[in-house]
Formats: sequence, structure tokens, C-alpha cells
Amino acid sequence: MCAADIPGRGPFYTYDEYVAQRIEVPSFTPDGVFVALRGGDWIGMSATSLRPEYAFSDMTGVLAAHRGRHLSLALKLLAVRFVRAAGHRRLVACHHAANIAAIMMNRRLGFVDRR
Ligand SMILES: CC(C)(COP(=O)(O)OP(=O)(O)OC[C@H]1O[C@@H](n2cnc3c(N)ncnc32)[C@H](O)[C@@H]1OP(=O)(O)O)[C@@H](O)C(=O)NCCC(=O)NCCS
Repeated sequence: MCAADIPGRGPFYTYDEYVAQRIEVPSFTPDGVFVALRGGDWIGMSATSLRPEYAFSDMTGVLAAHRGRHLSLALKLLAVRFVRAAGHRRLVACHHAANIAAIMMNRRLGFVDRR
């Protein structure tokens, strides 16, 4: 649902494609997945994987109805704490140049742009 808002994303994975490409891969780090719940429903998620040289911010998304309330900042701060606790000093995120909300979210957290 959130990924549909990423500029240039195109059709989202099927469930089987998602599992094959995002879960059943060596880099998948279950402990790096943070979820925001309202009642029993997922309203936000931030997934971070630990790679040998750096940590990678795989996906952060908040459902449209819940945006603008600093949920992504809260989720990514948990991710940063996780990355630091794992001993990594570098967290990398990669965004489409037109994804202003995601770029601004990361700048707000202190990420530095690289092209
Ligand atoms: C990017 C996204 C996760 C932000 O979630 P959010 O919970 O609404 O963001 P927050 O409320 O935590 O905002 C954090 C900061 O990001 C920036 N920001 C967020 N949305 C913004 C927007 N639409 N335009 C400009 N800046 C924005 C602001 O600096 C904001 O801090 P501030 O309000 O104190 O100025 C959300 O828009 C989303 O799910 N987008 C679709 C999925 C996506 O593109 N994910 C990133 C690719 S992995």
C-alpha cells in the first residue's frame, strides 16, 4: 500500500515475489523490522537490513491516513538504535529523486545526500 506511493515504483510484488525477493534473501534481517500498530492493524513499518559493510534502510512506509504525525521518524529512530546496537556506523537509504517526502524524512534524521 505504501510502496504504491513511491514514484516510478510500478506494479508491486505479488505475495510470492515479495517473499522470494525481500524475505528469502541472505540480507533479510527480521530483528530490523519495526511496525507501528493501531489496534491490531499495521499502520507503519520500517525495515532495515545489516550488510557486511553497512546497514541498509530497505523500506519505510506509513499508511496515507496516518502520515504527518512523525511516525516515520519514530520508526527510523528505532532502526538507527538497532543499527548502532549491531555495531554498524553507516546506514544507507536510496530513494527516487522525486520522492520528496522520503528524502525530507531522511534529511530530518541527519542523512547526508550522495548522488
Ligand atoms: C515517507 C513517509 C514514510 C513519511 O512518513 P510520515 O510518518 O508521514 O513522516 P513524518 O510525519 O515522520 O515526517 C518526518 C519528516 O519528513 C518530512 N516530510 C514528511 N512528509 C513530507 C512531505 N510530504 N513533504 C515534505 N517533507 C515531508 C518532514 O521534514 C517531516 O518532519 P517535520 O514535519 O518535523 O518537518 C510516507 O510519506 C510514506 O509512507 N510514503 C510512501 C512510501 C515511501 O515512499 N517510502 C520511502 C521509500 S522506502
